[in-house]
Amino acid sequence: MRLNSPQINLITKACMKASRSLIRDFGEIENLQVSTKGPGDFVTSADKRTEKILMDELQRAHPEYGIITEETGVINKTNLKNRWIIDPIDGTMNFLNGIPQFAISIGYEEDGEVKCGVIFNPITNEMFCAEKGNGAYLNNSRIRVSNKKKIIDSLLVTGGPKGASKIKDKIFSEYINISNNVSNVRKFGSAALDMAYVACGRFDGYWQRELNYWDIAAGIIILKEAGGLVNFFEEDIQPSLKKNIIATNSNIHEELRGLINKKDIE
Ligand code: IPD
Ligand code: CA
Ligand code: CA
Repeated sequence: MRLNSPQINLITKACMKASRSLIRDFGEIENLQVSTKGPGDFVTSADKRTEKILMDELQRAHPEYGIITEETGVINKTNLKNRWIIDPIDGTMNFLNGIPQFAISIGYEEDGEVKCGVIFNPITNEMFCAEKGNGAYLNNSRIRVSNKKKIIDSLLVTGGPKGASKIKDKIFSEYINISNNVSNVRKFGSAALDMAYVACGRFDGYWQRELNYWDIAAGIIILKEAGGLVNFFEEDIQPSLKKNIIATNSNIHEELRGLINKKDIE
């Protein structure tokens, strides 16, 4: 791999360390699934355990950096120059059901721009990573987005709505509208991996409402460095850590934007 910033080295090391306990926990889930207790509480503790390992590693190197994490929240609020954005397990529902489609996702942001990121599925041993200006990689191979030109020929991926969503009908109607205009749509349950899969050409595009920043921070730089296009819509009507995203191979971007019930798109 030709990525060599101190931040990417730190993230990769932290991911490898945290993945050891995550793999053990995933093995344990299979036992808990058949027990009467069920895996619910165990999953919460697996999330927290993974996050703690990641944070310890990153904080040891840079105690002053800001951190945004799913489980702990915001740390060192005033440092907006250097921030880690962490989702310890993206795809919790899959993890809980023994489905190996989940990942650790960590992005590193400088002055509001994601500069590098890693998305690591420890079960399939696929590590997607990228650094601004130096390309995107899957393990040791350079990756690029697909070359699909028309949305009607495209395979897309999406996610949601969440159980508590107040705009389920809108999300479902968008889903129907888009499905009617593309080759097919998948729903795999990990936003981070969805983006990584667009970056390596497995999918041609991805859209989703009501995401959190930690779901997609690493994916943003990985997709961009793989030649894709990412932007957000209806940003003005929600808090800054909430995101509605369109992420594509760039060729089909405008067509996908056109199919979304958008208010406005940056
Ligand atoms: C979720 C996954 C899922 C997406 C949800 C996210 P979590 O993250 O990325 O694909 O549809 O909106 O909340 O809860 O598994 O970390
Ligand atoms: Ca997530
Ligand atoms: Ca999570």
